[in-house]
Amino acid sequence: MERIEIEKLLHKMTLKEKIGQLVQLTGDFFNDQPEIIETGPMKKLGFLEGQYDIYNTGSILNIVNTSEIKDIQRNYLEKNKNKIPLLFMADVIYGYKTIFPIPLAQTCSWNFEMIESSAAILAKECYETGLHVTFSPMVDIVRDPRWGRVMESPGEDTLLAKKYSESMVKGIQGEVSEDVIPEHKIASCVKHFAAYGAPRAGIEYGAVELSNDSLNNYYLPGYRSAIDAGVKMVMTAFNTLNGVPCTGNQWLNQTVLREKFGFSGVLIADYAAIEELKSHGYTETDIQSALKAIESTVDIDMKTSVYANHLAMLAQKNPVIEQLINQATTRVLQLKNDLGLFEDPYRNIETTRKSSILSAEHRQTSQKLAEESIVLLKNNGVLPLKQDQALSVVGPYGDEKNALGFWAITGDIEETITLKEGLVEKKDKMNWTINSSLGATFLDESEYQLFGKYERMFEKPHLSDEELLSDAIEKSKHSDTIILAMGESVYQSGEAGSRTSLSLHPNQLRLLKNLKKLNKKIVLILFSGRPLILEEIVDDVDAILYAWYPGNNGGMALANILTGEVNPSAKLSMTFPRSVGQIPIHYNINTTGRAIDKGNPYHRFSSRYIDAPNEPLYSFGYGLSYTNFTYSEFRISKNRMSEEESVVVSIQVENSGSLKGKEVVQLYINDVSSSIVRPVRELKDFVKIELAPGEKRTIAFVIDKEKLGYYNEIDNFVIEKGLFEIIIAKDSQDDRFVEKLYVE
Ligand code: GLC
Repeated sequence: MERIEIEKLLHKMTLKEKIGQLVQLTGDFFNDQPEIIETGPMKKLGFLEGQYDIYNTGSILNIVNTSEIKDIQRNYLEKNKNKIPLLFMADVIYGYKTIFPIPLAQTCSWNFEMIESSAAILAKECYETGLHVTFSPMVDIVRDPRWGRVMESPGEDTLLAKKYSESMVKGIQGEVSEDVIPEHKIASCVKHFAAYGAPRAGIEYGAVELSNDSLNNYYLPGYRSAIDAGVKMVMTAFNTLNGVPCTGNQWLNQTVLREKFGFSGVLIADYAAIEELKSHGYTETDIQSALKAIESTVDIDMKTSVYANHLAMLAQKNPVIEQLINQATTRVLQLKNDLGLFEDPYRNIETTRKSSILSAEHRQTSQKLAEESIVLLKNNGVLPLKQDQALSVVGPYGDEKNALGFWAITGDIEETITLKEGLVEKKDKMNWTINSSLGATFLDESEYQLFGKYERMFEKPHLSDEELLSDAIEKSKHSDTIILAMGESVYQSGEAGSRTSLSLHPNQLRLLKNLKKLNKKIVLILFSGRPLILEEIVDDVDAILYAWYPGNNGGMALANILTGEVNPSAKLSMTFPRSVGQIPIHYNINTTGRAIDKGNPYHRFSSRYIDAPNEPLYSFGYGLSYTNFTYSEFRISKNRMSEEESVVVSIQVENSGSLKGKEVVQLYINDVSSSIVRPVRELKDFVKIELAPGEKRTIAFVIDKEKLGYYNEIDNFVIEKGLFEIIIAKDSQDDRFVEKLYVE
């Protein structure tokens, strides 16, 4: 309906009916036994008795099946006086039933067209189910793999985060021109605002302390890209930012988000975050929490009774609060209007065919994205695997279906194609024999209790550790190549999955060391939600493929890579440390006054560790291929420019190997001197190309002020005259091609 109709509806509503629109509850509040609701979930959540009518509630969290959505909506509309439909929102982060690789893997593809396609499939499957909003994308920049939610993040780089953010919002919402969300699309919610990915010591929910430079130049641009792409909702972050909780942070939410970034949509609190303002020590009472949150323009209170219990009283004492409530209610009603819910509360759910959910086409897209997300970290020639050989598939991920990642909450693990299943599919064509053995468990049984409600998800093996090991040795001793699939359980990362040790579990290390004694070729395949510490095992294996959590068809993607049908092309979107001691670690670091002198690397008084190199094990932008790419003919059109001009840098790339392959050619800049020192290098552009053997192509990048500028201390985007270095590279450590550029 027209916006003017929204205003008329608002004027019809009582204060309590408006406040109800600002409350989000879960489905258990709407089962068909109202008499127990009051004494059950409402009492548990602290609703003041008789003060709240659940049939004024604005939205529902994580009801994800069509029949329940229809039943709750129908029952609700019978009871809601104004006939305002419910919004149904859910955590569909990287796929509804068709599950894609985790976001940290997806950005290793550097293929944002394909990421947008995955988001469109996510949206279509949600639309067909009857969901209206997904709490995706998460675009928190991360530099600390101890934090469990790096798996959900686009990684450490701001440019990749911006591209991921834009691609996901466009894929989920479509090109939002006149506000209306079209058919087969739903509303997107970017999260967590802001900088949730930088917690103290990598501990979950930890405090975040960041300078304006870090916020403006690294952590905030990803969210802003979502807003520029028309995202309909933003979710607050759990953490404090420089001492103020994000969910009650007026500077962050009003000044930055709404005024500076121009966001006019719905701001939803993360789960119970309004009530947690007290736990942060930011308020003493729920009344104060309600006031802080509504004053910072938080529109929806997710799963607490704070708004329901206290906003009316606050509004009666202060007309400004009533105005804020009217504004918040208008934003929620507008979102419902943008989704067409007033015209059709079910969004064609009755007529929409469910044909696309987990369709072969959707699975194929997931598989293609996985094939471009799996990173080849090491290969001494053992890959691609040859025909006519005996393989043994060993390890806890050899045949494990629970490999979709922590946030695949709507996925069905039975739909996972495992590594072994993928290899068996190739067996006849490759003339392989395949043996398999579990070899080791993820954890010791005594550790399962550390995982709270997820303890029951760990299967207890039928064999003892010793029996598992001896079976693996027995199954492998006659093989030619061991495919060793290990890593961390999906419950070791994700929300509240922070870890202090990132090495493989001792059970798995023991398995590797014992298999090594067989003197067989070993291909290590790692499944993980984060960069693990690999330094102690790199030399024990002949190849390493980092699979992350590769989605429903992960086993097929891996099999295609192992046979060489697919040539790996992924490049790391997050740095791999040598040890936990190097963390936080990332490529775009600021130098120091005493950088290491390469001619005198052990000079005492230089910026280094005395017990390890400064460099990571694998750097941002790194990834191998089965072919080789030769870079040459590096050129710059001129070495001087005014800030209004631009220059062109170019390089020739040749596929000098024997297999077709894809390469990500990366453009970095280094602002050699500036009012606020800039990092030793920053990714400013890239292009992913495919070359046949022997094929050459010249890649050119335009360097203009957009690529040379940064946000200064008064938050202005500036380009400063002086010397820059322009770098074209195959990864963030590659310094073979550097040209100087003077901005006059
Ligand atoms: C969780 C997460 C957030 C999610 C929300 C709803 O705690 O922090 O990402 O969208 O609650 O489940």
